[in-house]
Amino acid sequence: MIRKSTLAALGASFILGLAVTASAHAEAVKDTAKWDSEFKASVKRGDGLFHGGIKSSNEVACVQCHPEGSNTHAETYPKYQKQLGKVSQLWEMANWCLENPLESKPMAADSQDMVDLVAYMTMIRRGYKLEAGKY
Ligand code: HEC
Repeated sequence: MIRKSTLAALGASFILGLAVTASAHAEAVKDTAKWDSEFKASVKRGDGLFHGGIKSSNEVACVQCHPEGSNTHAETYPKYQKQLGKVSQLWEMANWCLENPLESKPMAADSQDMVDLVAYMTMIRRGYKLEAGKY
């Protein structure tokens, strides 16, 4: 025979379980919202840089040669790039364009500006199949 106290303990742990699940769920929703808003803010900054936000002596902007970033092919990296003569990352190619067409300075791979540029170029190509090494 089940004692009343056992039933009470089971009931209490069930309610506690529900509460823990609910708070874990609320925490996960909060995390997802944070990740989403942080990423979108980075893409927005990258969008601004891509569309003329980078100082360059010749006033050239990425978007002039890469309409809306579409032909940056973020999903194909790492891959061999003729200009660099090696298998490269997306940011290395962005730096090649910074130094050559833009006649500007390269950025550190982990600088906020480069991360934002990469976030923008990657977001534009979201949905394309990942095909590292393509072309
Ligand atoms: C005057 C034109 C011009 C401008 C401006 C320019 N690029 Fe490029 N970009 C090129 C050329 C040319 C290539 C080489 C094409 C190739 O072989 O993939 C290239 C290639 C790239 C690639 C690799 C594309 C691929 O298919 O793998 C990326 C990424 C890139 N550029 C980013 C940028 C960024 C970021 C900027 C601005 C900082 C920029 N480019 C500005 C001409 C330009």
